[in-house]
Amino acid sequence: MSEAVFGPDSIRLMELDDLDAVMAIETAAQLTPWTRSHFGDCLKNANYLCQVVVDRDDEPVAFLILSRILDETHVLNVVVAPALQRRGIARLMLEQAMEAARNDAMTVMYLEVRETNTGAQLLYERLGFEVCGVRKNYYRRGDGHENAVLMQCLLSGGHK
Ligand SMILES: CC(C)(COP(=O)(O)OP(=O)(O)OC[C@H]1O[C@@H](n2cnc3c(N)ncnc32)[C@H](O)[C@@H]1OP(=O)(O)O)[C@@H](O)C(=O)NCCC(=O)NCCS
Repeated sequence: MSEAVFGPDSIRLMELDDLDAVMAIETAAQLTPWTRSHFGDCLKNANYLCQVVVDRDDEPVAFLILSRILDETHVLNVVVAPALQRRGIARLMLEQAMEAARNDAMTVMYLEVRETNTGAQLLYERLGFEVCGVRKNYYRRGDGHENAVLMQCLLSGGHK
């Protein structure tokens, strides 16, 4: 069997029927997973863009959730199924989202990432994000908390 290859055609909008697969990816990959109702609320919110990357059977293997308000877009969640990480799937989703945001005249993309999540931070830096702040004790971790690093990427040479 040949290796699955993922490209722009593998990206489509998330649907309610995807939530079993999305929850399986989320719980397998995240330290403090979102609940199913959290994803359901995102699907109902007109300011949110919810996308999945699907395999040849149209089964989600990754997803990206963004808010888009005025000229700002915010990455709320991005996850790739553990077995398919380090194949460029997150980069594919984010590059496509950044290009779409530029085409819609958005000026900046923001995200938060755990201080200890250095792999994700490297991904974002390679896409042009830079650190612009820290949110203290933003994430739960075990019995305690962990800081979030706030990152931004200017999309159109705008100033924020
Ligand atoms: C972070 C995450 C989304 C990255 O997805 P991915 O599809 O594996 O990332 P990509 O393959 O597109 O990575 C592109 C580049 O980012 C960097 N990168 C990504 N993950 C990395 C890791 N774990 N360690 C080091 N570098 C990493 C590398 O430079 C990589 O390029 P390379 O593989 O050629 O070296 C994925 O690891 C994941 O789902 N993690 C759990 C959830 C999470 O942490 N989400 C982010 C919350 S802010």
